[in-house]
Amino acid sequence: MTDVRTITERLGDPESAREEGRRKIEWAREHMPILAALDERFEAEEPLAGERVGMAMHVEAKTAALAETLAAGGAAVAITGCNPLSTHDDVSAALDAVEGVTSYAERGIDDAAYYRAIEAVIAHEPSITVDDGMDLLAAIHEDHPGLIDSIVGGCEETTTGVHRLRAMDRDGALDYPVFAVNDTPMKRLFDNVHGTGESSLAAIAMTTNLSYAGKTVVVAGYGYCGRGVAKKAAGQNARVVVCEVDPRRALEAHMEGHEVMPMREAAREGDVFVTTTGNRDVITREHFERMRDGVLLANAGHFDVEIDLDALDALATATREARAGVREYELPDGTRLNVLAEGRLVNLASPTALGHPVEVMDQSFGVQAVCVRELAEDGGEYEPGVHDVPDALDREVAGTKLDAEGLAIDELSDAQSEYMGSWDHGT
Ligand SMILES: NC(=O)c1ccc[n+]([C@@H]2O[C@H](COP(=O)([O-])OP(=O)(O)OC[C@H]3O[C@@H](n4cnc5c(N)ncnc54)[C@H](O)[C@@H]3O)[C@@H](O)[C@H]2O)c1
Repeated sequence: MTDVRTITERLGDPESAREEGRRKIEWAREHMPILAALDERFEAEEPLAGERVGMAMHVEAKTAALAETLAAGGAAVAITGCNPLSTHDDVSAALDAVEGVTSYAERGIDDAAYYRAIEAVIAHEPSITVDDGMDLLAAIHEDHPGLIDSIVGGCEETTTGVHRLRAMDRDGALDYPVFAVNDTPMKRLFDNVHGTGESSLAAIAMTTNLSYAGKTVVVAGYGYCGRGVAKKAAGQNARVVVCEVDPRRALEAHMEGHEVMPMREAAREGDVFVTTTGNRDVITREHFERMRDGVLLANAGHFDVEIDLDALDALATATREARAGVREYELPDGTRLNVLAEGRLVNLASPTALGHPVEVMDQSFGVQAVCVRELAEDGGEYEPGVHDVPDALDREVAGTKLDAEGLAIDELSDAQSEYMGSWDHGT
């Protein structure tokens, strides 16, 4: 058993923090109609009764709403952060006060404390895991394999986590079924594109108090997240340059009207750099040495490995905190480069960052909630490995959102269904 304390024990008597956290959660809930609808169904049917859900997610107001929905469904929930800089302590404290939920998440803890908090969640012996980046699942597989028999399955929220899971699966090392929540249309097409696009640019603007208009924004990686960042930056009157390694994605960026060039060239052009590759060493020493004075460097990929900060540290002759959330590195020739949020996910780890817009997370977390329900009800049907979310679940979430928005759509007639499903109607 681990000696890690809950956020409430650590903060003493955090009454005012709890109230502030509760207000944040209530605000988010107001704009989360999918979770509200699921709450009602979950409270009535208690599909998660008897389940212990372990979560390692960005602990802020929207995630708190998901944890509450799972608790409403009858689960005992234990949660911690999935990034030491994205936790909101007040939300964590408010969540810890909810019946059926225990929170260990705390902002700004070091790596050792971060992994101790993950251990604390594991000590609850989860029967279902919900991860954002796979750290909880990895710790269970590496250090607590004895628990795996009692785990029905897991859910993974983000691209990087799904990549890691698929690699584990290929090596035959993944010992329970996991839904790739990230890959569902209801998540990827909205959360990665619009969520990351809007919130990353908003976080950079709020942290620096600077405008995009007339600037050159370099976006590294034109996947789902990169598309969103590029589109929204163009919408704010920036010139957008895209760096890619995949020819089709590079072509797509070109056809969308963005400029495409290698990072070596883009390094000379950019005022703002945003990495969204999920890969390492995307901006390195050879790039730093070509950059202009005063550039902003931000990462929106899952891990803080996209901008090579060790190399920048070694290259710099001086460094200081230029502003909260902005570290300035001075190079030997006097050029100053500004790194935001220590190179971690800028939209979650900046001091003023709020993460994705609430509506977007309602969709992603709606998918999470129905996947947890599926695992509780039919987890035994799934073999160990990575699984696509069943399409019917994704459609259920889309339908719930359309209902909440008061939007109706057309229905296929029988003749149309038959036509779309047949191969013998030619010219
Ligand atoms: N900030 C957030 O809130 C947030 C939200 C969702 C996903 N993510 C993370 O963002 C990252 C990207 O997610 P995605 O869904 O866009 O993935 P994706 O796979 O759709 O896109 C990544 C793109 O980066 C390109 N790429 C890889 N290495 C590169 C390199 N060295 N230089 C240039 N391009 C390179 C790939 O070719 C690909 O097109 C992942 O780490 C994911 O976990 C962050």
